[in-house]
Amino acid sequence: MCGIVGYIGPRQAAGLLLEGLRRMEYRGYDSSGIAVVNGNGLKVRKAAGKLSVLEQELQDDMPSGTIGIGHTRWATHGAPTTPNAHPHTDQSGRIAVIHNGIIENSGSVRRALELRGHTFKSETDTEVLAHLVGEFYQGNLEEAVAMALREVEGAYGLAFISADEPGVLVAARKGSPLLVGVGEQEWFVASDASPLLQHTRSVVYMDDGEMAVLTREGYRIRNLETTRISKPVNQIDWDLAMVERNGHPHFMFKEICEQPESLHNTLRGHLLEDEGTARVSGLNLSDEELKQFERIIITACGTSWHSALIGEYMLEEMARIPVEVEYASEFRYRNPVVDQRTLVIGISQSGETADTLAAIREAKRRGARTVGLVNVVGSTIAREVDGGIYLHAGPEVGVASTKAFTSQVAALALITLRIARLRNLSILQGRQFIQALRLLPDKVAGILERAGEVEQLAERFLRNSTNALYLGRGVNFPVALEGALKLKEISYIHAEGYPAAEMKHGPIALIDENMPVVFIAPRDAVHSKIVSNIEEVKARGGKVIALINEGDKEIERLADATLTIPDTLDLLTPIVTSIPLQLLSYYVAVARGCNVDQPRNLAKSVTVE
Ligand code: AGP
Repeated sequence: MCGIVGYIGPRQAAGLLLEGLRRMEYRGYDSSGIAVVNGNGLKVRKAAGKLSVLEQELQDDMPSGTIGIGHTRWATHGAPTTPNAHPHTDQSGRIAVIHNGIIENSGSVRRALELRGHTFKSETDTEVLAHLVGEFYQGNLEEAVAMALREVEGAYGLAFISADEPGVLVAARKGSPLLVGVGEQEWFVASDASPLLQHTRSVVYMDDGEMAVLTREGYRIRNLETTRISKPVNQIDWDLAMVERNGHPHFMFKEICEQPESLHNTLRGHLLEDEGTARVSGLNLSDEELKQFERIIITACGTSWHSALIGEYMLEEMARIPVEVEYASEFRYRNPVVDQRTLVIGISQSGETADTLAAIREAKRRGARTVGLVNVVGSTIAREVDGGIYLHAGPEVGVASTKAFTSQVAALALITLRIARLRNLSILQGRQFIQALRLLPDKVAGILERAGEVEQLAERFLRNSTNALYLGRGVNFPVALEGALKLKEISYIHAEGYPAAEMKHGPIALIDENMPVVFIAPRDAVHSKIVSNIEEVKARGGKVIALINEGDKEIERLADATLTIPDTLDLLTPIVTSIPLQLLSYYVAVARGCNVDQPRNLAKSVTVE
């Protein structure tokens, strides 16, 4: 998700734009830029890297002008380079645009423009918008933008300025947030309120299909059909911190709640119903190349290692290929058997974890083909692997990984589907898997609607505990590990995850009335075994919280408390069973007054050994 800010008024724009971009730093980004119009035309300045790089370049060379637009980019299409940074300009270089979203038909529009003699300077979808408006421009920026928007499909929050109309800023919204800030004889546009609060709390929230035309005399809201729409002016009563978290109390909770959207974005464009397979073209592996691998090693750390374990169950169950999961920190120092017939998958939200990076380098050194499942575009791991899948989960700010985990599992499901369909999975089985994947975002949304039930359980069973056990079987054993990690890393309660059957080999000695035991117990192939494990715990006085499917009366009778989860394919249950456990750890940590977003001793990305 990118950050957008625009200004028109009596003050110099460049400094205001940079300050606005700084207020949006939390959105995460890898490049930034501004464009300003003054008597000498349009000045565009942009730079890859943190905002400080751009600020450094402008320090003694700030462009003058009282109308401008600014952008921080979270790259989705095209590496985070200076040419790909926004703003982008049209063929004439006199019209500039900034954009948050995805233009889905940019490829065909770009080819048509190139046939009409346009030359492009970037790999982005956004630059197509600038060239289209430039082509339609006949002296009226508003009309040219309206005409261009009729030609494109996809999602956008955008803003245009033109060297030939220094008194007009045109913005438009469809699918990405955009609002107008109403100041004292000055007006703003922005992707959220954070850059506005220091200037005004009066805002107009734009809706999809609407445009805003800002001039030095005022603003007007319209849509593509009518030239004026009346909209209420709202007063923002959030402080800056609340705005950055979209009104949620913590980034972690915001990111837990984003999972319907982040899962949708991870899957977007990969599900091929007709062939019953997944595109995953980023792997840079042909069908023939994929078929020649004899085994797969998945290497990662922490939560990413837990998603790797789930990948092992998926790949071996569906693709029938041997898989080993390795802690990156172990893999890099032992003498693993790896060669060109080994596919090594590195999983990393940050793309900067030192152990995972070193493990991937070691695998490459030994001749393995490497792919990465990474969230941060352009990160070191993303640049060093031979191919991969970007998670497109958006910036994950909370130290405890949540949406990245479920997106990693979804990405592993895509790879599994692609390989399985080359080996033994039928087209009908592939289509069934795709159908189940498509339903996941809504199923996750349904779980989030019942977050209050989880909060009550947190208060009743875990808040004052000193220990906890998480138990699961099969593909939900890694979910038990992940649930325990979530709890311990943000609430500081000692928690352990185990395969449920392992209880009798030692841990059952820990069971007493002070030991809450969380069972992950969907109605899958090993449900009856889990029931027996619950009975073993209950017989020793343990407190049992069970995640169960609707109508599971057998476990409802046994457990002290239950949380229902939606049905899905057995192999996809980790995506629905992990959500309540994320919420559980969140509510316990909040109740214990812990620093949820920045737990003690932890860093978001462990870039050292
Ligand atoms: C998980 O909640 C932790 N933040 C940590 O275990 C994390 O998953 C691990 O450090 C790996 O990080 P990465 O995915 O960025 O490589």
